[in-house]
Amino acid sequence: MEIVGSIVAGGSDYLIIREKKGSSLELGELLAVEDGDKKYLYVVSSIEYKSILDENRLYTSAGTIIEGINPKLEIPEDDLKLFRKVTLVPLLEVLNNNIYRAPRSIPSFLSKVRRIESSDFSFLEIPKNRIFLGKIRSGSKALDLNYYMNGEEMLSHHVIIAAQTGRGKSNMVKVMLWEIMNYSNFGILILDVHNEYFGYGTQKGLKDHPRADKALVYYSKSPPPGQNKLVVNLKSIEPEDLLGIIELSEPQKDAINIFARDYKREWLKELLREDPERDKEFKKIHASTLRALRRKLGNLFRIRILEDGEPYCEDDVFCFEGAGETTISDIADALEGGKVVIIDGSTIPDETGLIIMSAVMREVFNRYERYKNEGLLRDKVQIGVVLEEAPRILGELYDKNIFGRIAREGRKFKIGLIAVTQMASVIPDEILANIGTKIIMGNEMQKERRKLIENSPQDLSAYNYIIAGLEKGESIVTSIFSKFPVPIYTPLFDDIATKRADKFEPVFF
Ligand SMILES: Nc1ncnc2c1ncn2[C@@H]1O[C@H](COP(=O)(O)OP(=O)(O)O)[C@@H](O)[C@H]1O
Ligand SMILES: [Mg+2]
Repeated sequence: MEIVGSIVAGGSDYLIIREKKGSSLELGELLAVEDGDKKYLYVVSSIEYKSILDENRLYTSAGTIIEGINPKLEIPEDDLKLFRKVTLVPLLEVLNNNIYRAPRSIPSFLSKVRRIESSDFSFLEIPKNRIFLGKIRSGSKALDLNYYMNGEEMLSHHVIIAAQTGRGKSNMVKVMLWEIMNYSNFGILILDVHNEYFGYGTQKGLKDHPRADKALVYYSKSPPPGQNKLVVNLKSIEPEDLLGIIELSEPQKDAINIFARDYKREWLKELLREDPERDKEFKKIHASTLRALRRKLGNLFRIRILEDGEPYCEDDVFCFEGAGETTISDIADALEGGKVVIIDGSTIPDETGLIIMSAVMREVFNRYERYKNEGLLRDKVQIGVVLEEAPRILGELYDKNIFGRIAREGRKFKIGLIAVTQMASVIPDEILANIGTKIIMGNEMQKERRKLIENSPQDLSAYNYIIAGLEKGESIVTSIFSKFPVPIYTPLFDDIATKRADKFEPVFF
């Protein structure tokens, strides 16, 4: 047990300790104070120098050191009069080693403070339907203690993973999905804009999971053998799948609705087909509206109009006839079956990928709504959809698209969002408030940190500099489902996938 300090001031909001020389405490480090049958856990939130010498005396002494003059004046008794003053903020109060809660009392004056050990968290239990997030962390040291959340609670109430680029957001998602694939008890849809989740060649990815053949489905324009070619029949795209993904004027929306009413599943094809005689019959649709709409949708779905006016799909992701009629419902089936479904979004435009995601989630939402009405929802797997770097979709457009709907009411239907972003600040408070779990990784942008701190379930006002200093893989998990903000380190995915089972053993079967 390593004593690192003693309490000299403070109260219920924070404690001040005098650091034992040489302890080298760091920001974010976890400390423990034992007091009778209670134990208190604290987080280091600031470190300062302190002396109880006269200030002039200190300047003189500093001078003797740097100028090399009269070294006899160097500080006497520096062992006791110069020290570091460390501020701690409360994390938890633990009673009898197993009941824990936000602190309601403070430890005795002048109590000794020690470094934390894994056993201090012996009250943490492995939850049902667990999802592995990382190892409990004290400052920059990961403890030998896995941190899991109950996946059903976590996913149904949405998750945001926020950090500036390069801090390990994608790595964390991969680590979470790896654990999820062990049990097939969650259906997760992910649009992989950088094609970094599946893996290719020697590049490790979810394809290397021992249960990949049962638990993973991959769709790509150019899939490896045994995986699915991404082809979506445009009959399975509905008008609402476009709303909130692309900008549409009111007359354009009206035109779409008229075509959808008259042509049902053929609406897109008929809308794009140039037939001047027929078009004239749509008295309510202005010719210029139709022209603009055709241009917009033609670009979006890569459709060229042939000389006879018939639309033709130039890109093999979309088609009007034959293939791909069941793609959207096949993906929905896979999700219902508790699989992880990756859509390779790296070779299609972002908006196209988002429209495919919207169509799938619309289908899943409709099914789950029906299950709920029929009383069958309880036996269905929890669904999650990973939305990466799509702040616009959850920002200005959120009230129009399926993702905003999921954020608002998905929890009633076992459908949750996992939003991954470097720009939490553009997500409206209404959406942020609906997100039950926030995983805050390193961020140098004060504005981003402030937004996350203001919207976190626990009081993180003392964590501003701690968050600024988080390194790759380090984060703070703040959730309505935990009683304290949990500092964790998420291991590198490659280490887990190459089975360094000795270190991360509980993650495997
Ligand atoms: N936990 C970690 N430990 C060490 N290095 C990491 C960790 N997480 C990520 N990295 C490294 O940082 C790089 C960026 O990580 P990534 O997950 O792609 O970040 P982001 O998605 O936030 O941009 C990766 O190439 C990886 O090598
Ligand atoms: Mg990333």
